[in-house]
Amino acid sequence: MDLTSVVVPTTPFEGQKPGTSGLRKKVKVFMEKNYTENFIQCILNALGSKVKGCTLVVGGDGRYFTKQAINIIIRIAAANGVAKLIIGHLGIFSTPAVSSLIRTHKVLGGIVLTASHNPGGIRNDFGIKYNIENGGPAPDSVTDAIYEETKKIKEYYFTPKLETDRLIDNTGTHTYKVDGRDFVVEIIDPTIDYVNLMKEIFDFQKLRDLIRGTDERPPFNVLIDSMNGVTGVYVRKIFVEELGAHPDNHVTRIVPLDNFGEIHPDPNLTYAKDLVDTVKSNPTYDFGAAFDGDGDRNMIIGKNAFFVTPSDSLAALANNLDCIPYFKKHGVHGFARSMPTAAAVDRVATKLEKEMFEVPTGWKYFGNLMDAGRLSLCGEESFGTGSDHIREKDGIWAVLAWLSVIEHKNMSVEQILKEHWSIYGRNYFTRYDYEECDSDAANQMMAHLEKLIASNDFVSKTYTASKKSYTIQKADNFSYVDPIDMSVAKNQGIRILFSDGSRLIYRLSGTGSSGATIRVYIDSYEKENVLSDAQVMLKPLVDIGLEISQLKKFTGRDAPTVIT
Ligand code: G6P
Ligand code: ZN
Repeated sequence: MDLTSVVVPTTPFEGQKPGTSGLRKKVKVFMEKNYTENFIQCILNALGSKVKGCTLVVGGDGRYFTKQAINIIIRIAAANGVAKLIIGHLGIFSTPAVSSLIRTHKVLGGIVLTASHNPGGIRNDFGIKYNIENGGPAPDSVTDAIYEETKKIKEYYFTPKLETDRLIDNTGTHTYKVDGRDFVVEIIDPTIDYVNLMKEIFDFQKLRDLIRGTDERPPFNVLIDSMNGVTGVYVRKIFVEELGAHPDNHVTRIVPLDNFGEIHPDPNLTYAKDLVDTVKSNPTYDFGAAFDGDGDRNMIIGKNAFFVTPSDSLAALANNLDCIPYFKKHGVHGFARSMPTAAAVDRVATKLEKEMFEVPTGWKYFGNLMDAGRLSLCGEESFGTGSDHIREKDGIWAVLAWLSVIEHKNMSVEQILKEHWSIYGRNYFTRYDYEECDSDAANQMMAHLEKLIASNDFVSKTYTASKKSYTIQKADNFSYVDPIDMSVAKNQGIRILFSDGSRLIYRLSGTGSSGATIRVYIDSYEKENVLSDAQVMLKPLVDIGLEISQLKKFTGRDAPTVIT
């Protein structure tokens, strides 16, 4: 049967501006009549003539509203002349898996349905993100173009008779005739392509020996926590089926739930407390890891819940890439981190004589460098670690990378970190988050900082707290010129740099869905004193950070919502 598309008149919605990582709003906002339809049409409008005959990958972390969104996407894509959609079974694809599929299938891009680490369920968040041909998040030029479209949209195209009900419940290929053209929907197992990629990168036999134990070595007991997010399906395939982890003892919360079991699926010491407590109270565990809702973030802990900061994780991996077959084969081209991430990896880059890049917050800024062959490994303090195997950060990859280093060096997580600090010194790092602040108050605080750092006497001022003094050497609002395409990203966070290399950074989050989240990043380097408690070590600088910003005065907040 030949299906016919229709043109549906619509009007713009305010605020459909993609943030750090796509458009994120409450589910009820996406449910408003035409809200989702408008945004999908605007993505396609921004892609212009490339849409006709293209293939797109569609899927996400399975959160509430995924199925409804996919049904809308299928009918809008059909009506816009898209030739094919590759969709995950039950709408499921981790964000790294989407990136991988876009690359292996060489398609135009992907629509990722996720709000990442934000809570899900009918009362919480949904999100839509567009990824481009290289598999990475759309750069600002594309998201800006989408936003411009959202301000002027008048109509969207739709194929109402295309039956989408239960289509994603089974794998298989469906071909339709829409407006005289072929339109194909292929529903695939979300794990196959990704598992194959991991097998190319890592030595699965060695990892299996590590987890199962050998004649020479006892089993290395892991606890992998999917936090009820999308990684569950990948964890079952990789850790249980391939690497022999015990399904009851070594993996947990691996069934993806559309509300993540009412938890906040964010792998950090606050929201992954269950994992931390279990590993701490059970010394048989040698290792713990958790992922966020869509599987791009990771947290690594060792025995007794020894915590690895993401900044240290990046640096330690950078120092040990020879433990991973992929890097032996492809070489190591350079390292990068986001600006607020502690500079531990910079020291490794210097020693190994690799290029080092500092980019704004947001994984999209790494893509050009990878495409140009100048970047192999990168990470962010926000629990993101990844490499040029895809163009997203990759939680499961990070865990397999850590296990490869542990296997190769036959050392514990704690030993690897301590060895690292003894060579390079330690960047103590913490981040204070003040979530859901009043937006005006948060903006006023940033304006105050902006004004303060521009004042004549600010640089060279000395601040003292708990008998520790810090002298300001430089202060600015970070801006970045992409060395590949020369695009400029301004206003990426206030940086206050001190003469001893310590840093205070203030940013407003770009991933929240309501109010404003203020992030204060505190980073202090010690060459010798590397074994102290981070919160104790950083307390004086935290106090100075609060004094300089007058955060309490502006926001009324006494304490952060989350400390990472
Ligand atoms: C997402 C992005 C990251 C970014 C993080 C924090 O996870 O993929 O690249 O670092 O959000 O963003 P925010 O703007 O909330 O600090
Ligand atoms: Zn995520």
